Amino acid sequence: MNFENKVVIVTGAAGGIGKEVVRKLANGQAKVVLVDLNEDAIKAVQAELGLTEENSLAVKADVSNEESVKNYVTQTISKFGRIDGFVNNAGVEGPAKTIEEITEEDFNFVYGINVKGVLFGLKYVLPIMKEQKSGSIVNTSSVAGLIGSPSMVLYNSSKHAVMGINKVAALEAAAFNVRVNAVNPGVINTQMMRNIESKVAPGAAEAAQAAYNDAVPMKRYGEPEEVANVIAFLLSDEASYVSSSSYTVDGALYNV
Ligand SMILES: NC(=O)c1ccc[n+]([C@@H]2O[C@H](COP(=O)([O-])OP(=O)(O)OC[C@H]3O[C@@H](n4cnc5c(N)ncnc54)[C@H](O)[C@@H]3O)[C@@H](O)[C@H]2O)c1
Repeated sequence: MNFENKVVIVTGAAGGIGKEVVRKLANGQAKVVLVDLNEDAIKAVQAELGLTEENSLAVKADVSNEESVKNYVTQTISKFGRIDGFVNNAGVEGPAKTIEEITEEDFNFVYGINVKGVLFGLKYVLPIMKEQKSGSIVNTSSVAGLIGSPSMVLYNSSKHAVMGINKVAALEAAAFNVRVNAVNPGVINTQMMRNIESKVAPGAAEAAQAAYNDAVPMKRYGEPEEVANVIAFLLSDEASYVSSSSYTVDGALYNV
């Protein structure tokens, strides 16, 4: 896929899915801005993928903090002068707790990253794309943004919120030739699923993994690259008439 002369921001760039999106973009000659809370890890991704000062920028940011969000957008404009793509992807799974066990701190943590982080990312990226009269945004929701899962109320409901934000952003941006779409990954082989397996089944993470595997009609976890492929398509000009949509990448899980 060709992303030559395009500047794309990826949040959660050090994570499983983010890193594969960065790889795909870099292979397509994009200039990539890698945003993550974990600075060492984004630097390691830059090094592993052979990214240079000319074609990439690493910005440490906490997406739950508005100033931090504003800063990664400002730094992108200072260095590259435009934003063609935005992968609004950083997220956390939060605790595995029933509704009655949830604390205010749990709520603020998960909603701060998964909802506020996504919304404020849009708040600062959209005006630039609207001014350019071009751009493509992909928000990472989840199959958890379409269904309920016991003991994961904060994660599920925060990902439902991403779906609502996605629809509003798409409508506000459409007249400016800016497209906004979401992806809904199922169970994907990244650190996040390792965390979820050990949280939902303490001491029996392997059994939890086997149960998730079995629940997927394709009988396997997805690989982060398989999600990155769909995100890259949505970012690309090949998807020029696609907006306000959401794509499951889940081995048919949502159909169950
Ligand atoms: N792995 C799955 O099965 C799965 C399924 C559906 C949706 N998703 C979603 O995909 C996205 C990426 O997840 P992943 O599987 O790559 O997980 P991951 O845990 O591998 O990566 C998440 C990344 O987000 C970063 N991050 C966390 N808090 C942050 C913050 N406050 N500010 C900036 N960065 C922060 C982490 O440092 C990490 O690099 C998330 O939004 C997740 O909810 C994942």
